Amino acid sequence: MIDKLEYTNKHELIYLDQTLLPLKQKYHKTKSYKDAAEAIRKLQIRGAPLIGIAAAYAVVMGVHHYDTDNRKNFEIHFYKITETLRNSRPTAKNLFYALDRMIKVFEENIKKDFIEIEDLLLREADAIYDEDAEMCKRIGVNGAVLLGEKSTVLTHCNAGELATGGIGTALGIIYTAQKQGKDIFVYADETRPLLQGSRLTAFELNENGIDFDIITDSMAANLMKEQVIDCVIVGADRIASNGDVVNKVGSYSLAVNAAYHKIPFYVAAPGSTIDFDILTGEEINIEERSPDEITRVNGEKITSDKYGVMNPAFDLVPNELVTAIVTEYKVHYPPYNFGGIKQMFQSYVQVQRSESETE
Ligand code: MRU
Repeated sequence: MIDKLEYTNKHELIYLDQTLLPLKQKYHKTKSYKDAAEAIRKLQIRGAPLIGIAAAYAVVMGVHHYDTDNRKNFEIHFYKITETLRNSRPTAKNLFYALDRMIKVFEENIKKDFIEIEDLLLREADAIYDEDAEMCKRIGVNGAVLLGEKSTVLTHCNAGELATGGIGTALGIIYTAQKQGKDIFVYADETRPLLQGSRLTAFELNENGIDFDIITDSMAANLMKEQVIDCVIVGADRIASNGDVVNKVGSYSLAVNAAYHKIPFYVAAPGSTIDFDILTGEEINIEERSPDEITRVNGEKITSDKYGVMNPAFDLVPNELVTAIVTEYKVHYPPYNFGGIKQMFQSYVQVQRSESETE
């Protein structure tokens, strides 16, 4: 497994800088929750589940390195930490899922000693990390049945080890199928503008001994026409209750092309990516990032700053284009309702709201 994130007993967060891969494998170390939020914003730490895990540890770190005897100040500081992290990236549900779990632990134990609260928060962050690794394993097993003995899979962005606490979601399915003896070949979309496909997916497929080719995003439709793709598998940043999926920009285009060529379009994600508070994907806040990510390559300007640029990080795949969604529970087919999972993943904030509504 690639070492991507570690929380040490000195209350430091060590993380692999994903903006430099694959050419440099550089680790940063910090004791500051603000640095962790900035690392998430800059995509040094990225991928929906990993963002959530990092944020959970950043909460513990922020609490540990704050010195006070005053309970009111302690509380104010706690919410300052969670707000800072909440504002680091707006789309991935897992960030909010993890922060809500940390807030719940804090609020349920608010009367205890500070040391004890910190300890409980650390246990919760560890649990979020471990549970995510376990969810990935189960997604891998559930999804591997969708792949034939010899399969060619197209994937987009990076939904693998680097993006999660475990083996990944979309790539976890590929690793599991390969371990089961299936012969898998992957086309990895380079994923403009930040090249998570040609940098990160390629890096980890290579580390895991999977055969692959990197392709430009615009080659995908033609490969589908030539009938070399058996299925598309991508991850997700947020899934609405109706199965609408928001994932890395370019996912919609792939889904439309897959539907046209009658190729299954699968989404792999843990329950913690499903947002039961929203009915459709239209309600999801799509992050708009800096134009520099498009006007520059490796910091070098490639076009004029005077030109207008749009840079949404994600796009919405409507549920009718999604053949199936693989979670740690099962393979879900349309119409999506995720019955049974809802109780487990409904957000703390929502639960609070409905409880007070019924009072
Ligand atoms: O902007 P990124 O690199 O964080 O985007 C990541 C994705 O879009 C992934 O597909 C998604 O987070 C799922 S990761 C298991």
